[in-house]
Amino acid sequence: MTDQATRSERSEEEIPGKPTAASRTTLSHIMTGSDTNLLGTVHGGVIMKLVDDAAGAVAGRHSGGPAVTASMDEMVFLEPVRVGDLVHVRAQVNWTGRSSMEVGVRVMAERWNESTPAQQVGSAYLVFAAVDGDGKPRRVPPVIPETERDKRRYQEAQIRRTHRLARRRAIKELREKRVADGIDD
Ligand SMILES: CC(C)(COP(=O)(O)OP(=O)(O)OC[C@H]1O[C@@H](n2cnc3c(N)ncnc32)[C@H](O)[C@@H]1OP(=O)(O)O)[C@@H](O)C(=O)NCCC(=O)NCCS
Repeated sequence: MTDQATRSERSEEEIPGKPTAASRTTLSHIMTGSDTNLLGTVHGGVIMKLVDDAAGAVAGRHSGGPAVTASMDEMVFLEPVRVGDLVHVRAQVNWTGRSSMEVGVRVMAERWNESTPAQQVGSAYLVFAAVDGDGKPRRVPPVIPETERDKRRYQEAQIRRTHRLARRRAIKELREKRVADGIDD
């Protein structure tokens, strides 16, 4: 075995893990008139931007460098968000692969000037890929789930990962077959 092979095997093996809590982040924002849609409630796209921002911060912190959004799925809006709501977007790494991370996000809202408890108004799962200076995927530290809740989220994220890959593969195969059969170009 050459020195180079030994070095490369070592770099494949050794990236110290990071606990979930090390990168967990909350981003808070008060909704104003410029955030509304034509119905007068807050535009879904405004919430999605906050979700992407919070998840991006978590992915960057966990991976120790730049990370880009590869996908966003299961974005759910449970309740309308109103002008004057203080929105808290809580994000954490649920799962890590070689270069990708699933970040889970929970969106809470409370009236900015009342002491009523915050209510969950949405949630989403995003996949981020850590990239190097050339935009190529780079390895990420494995996440270490600590609490029972973190462990459940890790297991659920693995199920979503399996479904994402299977869905992508099935659609690719269908498209290739239609091209091969001369139905699509
Ligand atoms: C995301 C990106 C870096 C992936 O690059 P790639 O050449 O396809 O690299 P890979 O196929 O090796 O994918 C890298 C990782 O991302 C995951 N991934 C890529 N596309 C994915 C998708 N659509 N959904 C879920 N995971 C995805 C892969 O499974 C892989 O994970 P792993 O290393 O943990 O196994 C590339 O597609 C990219 O730069 N996209 C644009 C990102 C961007 O600009 N986002 C902002 C949008 S405005």
